[in-house]
Amino acid sequence: MKPSLPSLRNTAPGTVPLSVPLLDLRRQYEGIREDVLAAIERVCDSQSFILGPEVEALEHEIATLTGAVAAVGCASGTEALWLALVAAGVKPGDSVITTAFSFFASASAIVRAGATPVFVDVDPGTLNLDAALVDRQIRTQRPANLRAILPVHLYGQCADMDAFDRIAHEFGIAIVEDAAQAIGAEWRGRGAGSLGVTAAFSFYPTKNLSAYGDAGIVTTMRPEMAERMRQLRNHGSPRRYYHHEFGWNGRMDAIQAAVLRVKLTHIADWNRSRQNHAATYDQLLAGAGLTSSRTSSHISSQSGAPVRLLARSPQAKHVFHQYVIRAQRRDDLRKFLADRRIGSEIYYPLPLHLQPVFSYLGLKAGDMPVSEQAAQEVLALPMFPELTEAEIRCVVESIADFYS
Ligand SMILES: Cc1ncc(COP(=O)(O)O)c(C=O)c1O
Repeated sequence: MKPSLPSLRNTAPGTVPLSVPLLDLRRQYEGIREDVLAAIERVCDSQSFILGPEVEALEHEIATLTGAVAAVGCASGTEALWLALVAAGVKPGDSVITTAFSFFASASAIVRAGATPVFVDVDPGTLNLDAALVDRQIRTQRPANLRAILPVHLYGQCADMDAFDRIAHEFGIAIVEDAAQAIGAEWRGRGAGSLGVTAAFSFYPTKNLSAYGDAGIVTTMRPEMAERMRQLRNHGSPRRYYHHEFGWNGRMDAIQAAVLRVKLTHIADWNRSRQNHAATYDQLLAGAGLTSSRTSSHISSQSGAPVRLLARSPQAKHVFHQYVIRAQRRDDLRKFLADRRIGSEIYYPLPLHLQPVFSYLGLKAGDMPVSEQAAQEVLALPMFPELTEAEIRCVVESIADFYS
């Protein structure tokens, strides 16, 4: 018999939440409303709406936070990925290795740079790009014109950057980080965004650091790459009406930069809250007998438990953009939670190599078994800084009820 959650039952009447959203941005807004409105007013007063001093200030602040040499603000995380790849030297006819288990933009940006994505499966513990498989692929079947490797720091945890560093040096290949989900994350004390030659961040409204619309930023360790990206985001133009290469309009709005600068002052606290919530989930799930109590960096073989946690790399500071479990009968569990008005989401239901748009690559079901299994099992639970302990208890109790 599974142990119940006694302290949950003790929750005072009236404090048990009626519903638990996956994400509630209104709670964040309540705490920063005055500052955000003042920042927007500052931009309106200046009547300077694109790039300009707000974007430049944000670029400095993000470079400092990540430990990168420079940052270049742009229109979205997708745009940031394209800039990061082109600046790293990716050009038409090249290949770029990336994960089969990520958001679409990780791969579509490679195509937009004119290159071919080469999908490699993920590590069964962390679900990040499997460095051992990448190494094997390069040794046994090196893709033609392999220019870069694009690991994604999935759910807010860095991929194995020790291994990717080694691969980069041995084979002379650039590492471009997809850090869209990982602002504030670290690997051995070094910030995501300073671990490859370039890195892309997204400020999409659901991200840990989020704009009031679309926005993104690229960081780099190479000043000359920053300069090129500044031109690329502005029609390849070093000065107005003179164009040296085909860029695009990928600029950042000043209002987004101003809002992001307000939020940036809170990001360390917000990420800490996310880590605390993750620890509470871990503890309550284990206490309810839903997960194995064994802590291991390779939890994929936890026996019999209906819920499995992803592995946490000891070298990584995880910022829990998402708290993701792997659940037996995942789709039924999700419906059960929805009936109790508990939000959840599947990131991602179909691996990239099976997306219809990539059928030209000739890959099929069974080619990336770890990603394919993950797509059947992963479930993201409510996670945002203002989430309460009572809400987390409510989520875990509901999961326990489902499996009882
Ligand atoms: C891993 C990953 N890469 C890239 C992106 C693209 O970012 P954006 O939506 O800001 O274009 C996202 C965000 O959705 C993401 O999660």
